[in-house]
Amino acid sequence: MSNLEIIPGPCHFVIFGATGNLATIKLLPSLYNLELAGRIPGDMSILALGRQEYTQEAWLEHLSKVLHDKFGDKVNPEIAARFAKRFSYLSGDLRQAEFYQRLKEKLSEPREGSCSNIVFYLSIIPKDFNTVINYLDEYGFSKPRGLHRIVVEKPFGTDLETAQQLNRSLHKHFDEEQIYRIDHYLGKETVQNLLVFRFANTLIEPLWNRNFINHVQITVAEDLGIGTRADYYDKAGAMRDMLQNHLMQLLTVVAMEPPPSLEADAVRDEKVKVLKSIRPIPKSSVNAYAFRAQYSPGTIKGQQVPGYMEEQGVEKNSVTETFVAAKFYIDNWRWRGVPFYLRTGKRMAKTQSTISIRFRHPPQQLFHDTPLEQIEPNWILLSLQPSESMNMELHVKAPGLGMDTRVTQLNASYRSPDEMPLEAYEALILDVIEGDKTLFIRFDEVEWAWRVVDPILKHWSQERDFIHTYPAGSWGLHESSRLFDCEDQEWRNGV
Ligand code: BG6
Repeated sequence: MSNLEIIPGPCHFVIFGATGNLATIKLLPSLYNLELAGRIPGDMSILALGRQEYTQEAWLEHLSKVLHDKFGDKVNPEIAARFAKRFSYLSGDLRQAEFYQRLKEKLSEPREGSCSNIVFYLSIIPKDFNTVINYLDEYGFSKPRGLHRIVVEKPFGTDLETAQQLNRSLHKHFDEEQIYRIDHYLGKETVQNLLVFRFANTLIEPLWNRNFINHVQITVAEDLGIGTRADYYDKAGAMRDMLQNHLMQLLTVVAMEPPPSLEADAVRDEKVKVLKSIRPIPKSSVNAYAFRAQYSPGTIKGQQVPGYMEEQGVEKNSVTETFVAAKFYIDNWRWRGVPFYLRTGKRMAKTQSTISIRFRHPPQQLFHDTPLEQIEPNWILLSLQPSESMNMELHVKAPGLGMDTRVTQLNASYRSPDEMPLEAYEALILDVIEGDKTLFIRFDEVEWAWRVVDPILKHWSQERDFIHTYPAGSWGLHESSRLFDCEDQEWRNGV
């Protein structure tokens, strides 16, 4: 995105946790998409690391299954064969020193041309981050500084203090230039498009403030449950898993001031200013700002699904939240007084992520003696997934003799049917390969986001005997509406 001096592409892309959930669902398919687009450097090899005892053949079979599960018969056999050739697999326990010895030997195998540029991708559970970072340093992988890069998945820490510890531990061995803190929501088309929508259209930007906007809603709903991730999720919950990072990042992109350029730090400076301006949540009124709940059994797409407590690996009497809603105020010139309502949940009615911006009522009730009296305000609706779209809701008069109204949507969808939708990871992996950090998180963003949510987490950690439940397949509970400032505000579920 920015004007970069491109340093030579990496020749090894090393994935820790290559048989895990994230690699299976997102990373491997995204790497394949990059292969398809011809964007992987010709000589880059991919080293998959995992605990499973796969032979090279068994790994390739696994890889082929991953691609077929994701793309079905759309997999291009020629491209898939070229992709498979890049891979080798190394099995072992990342908590054991001998594994790194073997890794070292593997990466020192002679290859054509000279190359010392390696990407290490930590697609592993956060509690293993420190172990891997320390071993990578011990075995000489943090040097030469500048050439080796390390990609760290979220959540970065579990609160402000642990995030700072993790950062210190990373900086002990790696320079900031080498560290890529990833939040894949920043790679989503709609998020990148939001920058264009806001800053390339003079029509929009003058309206984007407290004078015209009544409130903003950011919803990331998933119909999936926690699957096999209880080990991680039961300790994290929706606040740490989604809101502190993905939703907070969306909020910063909606609310930031225009940066002076698209250079990584220029963009990140503006995002940090937003986070710093968020009004701290007082300890005494956390319940007025945040709501949590957990899914109980229910029905999704016609199928009965278990509640969170019945999921394998979840602790008995766990009060981990699988749904969270929160309200934030950004106390700056542009946004003072405009509530930002954020919510996210698992096992909700459907998978849908949207940013919904509701405008104010017109200042004069010109239509008060007509059926238009109760006219709904305008909305701008940005859908991130499952489809990518931008709609603006406007009122028009319904043709006819009466003064009746109808809502019409100006649809600014920007993907034509023949343009392939991508996972967010493609753009970000490419940025790591090319050394562009615009869409990666700087540590002060992480710190300020923790400062915002820590009071909520602290409060919840003291209230461990009760959590509301919502039936799987619903939009959560009506109780979350208590966050709204006015009676005429309510959750918007559709686009
Ligand atoms: C991950 C979370 O970061 O994002 C998961 O750990 C969540 O719990 C996933 O399911 C959602 O990503 P996406 O791109 O499918 O919306």
